[in-house]
Parts: sequence; structure tokens; C-alpha cells
Amino acid sequence: MIFTGSHILSVEQFERADIERIFTVADAMAPYALRRRVTRVLEGAILGNMFFEPSTRTRISFGCAFNLLGGEVRETTGFESSAIAKGESLYDTARVLSGFSDVICMRHPQEGSVAEFAEASRVPVLNGGDGANEHPSQALLDLYTIRKELGSKNRGIDGLRIALIGDLKYGRTVHSLCKLLCHFSQVHVTLVSPTELAMPESIVEEMRAAGHTVIVTEDLTQSISSVDIAYSTRIQEERFASKEEADMYRGRFRLNQSIYTQYCEPNTVIMHPLPRDSRADANELDNDLNQNPNLAIFRQADNGVLVRMALFALVLDVVDQVDKYARDVNWYNSLRTL
Ligand code: CP
Repeated sequence: MIFTGSHILSVEQFERADIERIFTVADAMAPYALRRRVTRVLEGAILGNMFFEPSTRTRISFGCAFNLLGGEVRETTGFESSAIAKGESLYDTARVLSGFSDVICMRHPQEGSVAEFAEASRVPVLNGGDGANEHPSQALLDLYTIRKELGSKNRGIDGLRIALIGDLKYGRTVHSLCKLLCHFSQVHVTLVSPTELAMPESIVEEMRAAGHTVIVTEDLTQSISSVDIAYSTRIQEERFASKEEADMYRGRFRLNQSIYTQYCEPNTVIMHPLPRDSRADANELDNDLNQNPNLAIFRQADNGVLVRMALFALVLDVVDQVDKYARDVNWYNSLRTL
């Protein structure tokens, strides 16, 4: 695809070569994400960061990624602080805000809303999550994390064995990740969810058409016994008609250190898009896994900055100029690693 000036709305836009291009650029962003070097390549550029649903990682890492490239960030969070609360349409909001920004990131509770906004926008729009539909940058950072974690064991994504666990119906991160996996070969996917929260059949069919083995089950312990990646997800309470309905499923599939030790292969990597629900009645990933070196959830979140820097650099066409506008940092750096 041509990245320059493009909206990033769905992972369906990408071919395998595009994914690899994003990952190569993300790798090159490490000195900046680690704050060993600073670049001013986007000096003067403005990101409009519009989040109409709660977010910690996506909103802040999109913002940090833009700042790390030298740009400025202006935020709108929640409908109540936007004129949408006064009845303004997405069309008018997009026409106005795209006059103030060079690129816009948006999260919205309705499926398709970010694409609708993008149609009216005069600048590129990046989907930060639209309802239960898609979360493209999360899927890219998830796949980037899988590549990195397996790469340290001399393995690639082709032939991957992965279990996706939890709310696969409303979990937009797993929808996007499954679609990205269709670009790779001989992936073994085990889908673990309550029947009512199963992965949409269209996505299962897409994976089978790509030649992948797909197993659908409610058996957690068996499903995690021979996988490279155990990817857990939260029950997406905000998508249910009531809290009581979500409560019926919360806590159904819990992974803790004892289960990990008993059932997983020694180097199984544990992932989660976060936030994990750490309330006692949920606790899908127990805190007793925090010292497990195969718990990749915080490395995964760190990788989000690299991938989002890569998306900005590609869409705003500055990949080849990042180093030209760079210098070493002035301050003490406590040798962070990613
Ligand atoms: N993974 C993710 O989308 O996290 P936030 O909801 O905190 O952005």
C-alpha cells in the first residue's frame, strides 16, 4: 500500500510486505522510544488525539509517539468535552478538527464511526478502536511483540501456535490480530471462549481459507498445553446490555502461575492487550504471574510506542528524515530496554 497520506482504519488494508515495512520502521524507532536520541522531524506538526471511550495505552502511546517525533498533541477525551454532546455530527467535527491537525487518532464506541469520520477528514485518520470492530494499531503491536518474543527463540510467525482466550466476540484486538495472521502460513489458532462470546464466524472462515488450523473450544487447560503464545483478553463489559450479563462470563478463564506451571510448555509467552481486569471476580491474568519472565504484557505495551511512531513516520512520509533531525539526549537515561 502507499502509506503517505493514507488513513489507517483496518488491518485489511495491509499486505504482508506492508506489515514487514511497518515492523522494520518500528525497529528503527528504538533509540528514540528508549530516549537515547531525540528527533525533531515532526516539529510544527499537530496530532488531534480524539478518544470518545476510556483509554490509557492507546491514547497516551499515540501521543508519546508523536511527541517523540517532535510533534505536538491536542486531545479531546469523552463526548462530554466535545461539541458532539451538543448534537454536532461526525462530518462537521471531522471537517473542523482536520483543519487544526496534520493527523488525527480517534477512538469511538460505534463500529464504522472512525471510517465515517475519515471520509470527511482533510488529513489522515488512524483508528484507535471503533466499537467491537477493529483496533489496527493494537494488532500490529501484538504481532510485532509475537515476532520479537519468538525471534529471541529463533522462531518466526509462520507456523505460530497461539491460543486466544476470553471475550472473542466483542474483543476488537483479537478480531484485528486474526485478520493479520491470515498473511502468514500454517498458523495453529485455538479459540477459547464461552459459546456466546465466540469469535465471529466470518473471521474463523477467513483464517481457515488462509490455510490455518482453527480449533474452537471451552477447555482452557488443554488449549494452552501446546502453544507458543497464550493471549488472554478481558470480558468487554462496556459492550454488554448490562453489567449483570457481563458478570455471567467474568472469571470464566483464569490463568495463574499454578495453571501455567502445570499445563504450559516452559517458554509459552503470555500476552494480553490490557487493561487486564484485576478485580477479584475477573482476574483473567493473575498478579502472581508478574514475576514470570514469559509474561510479555508490559513489553507488549512498550512496543506500542515503536509501532505507532512507525505509523506516523510512514503516513507523514518522514521515515528517511528521522535521523537527519536527531541528536543525543541531554538528560540522564536509566538504560531502559525494550
Ligand atoms: N489495549 C488498549 O486498547 O488499551 P487502552 O484501552 O488502555 O487504550
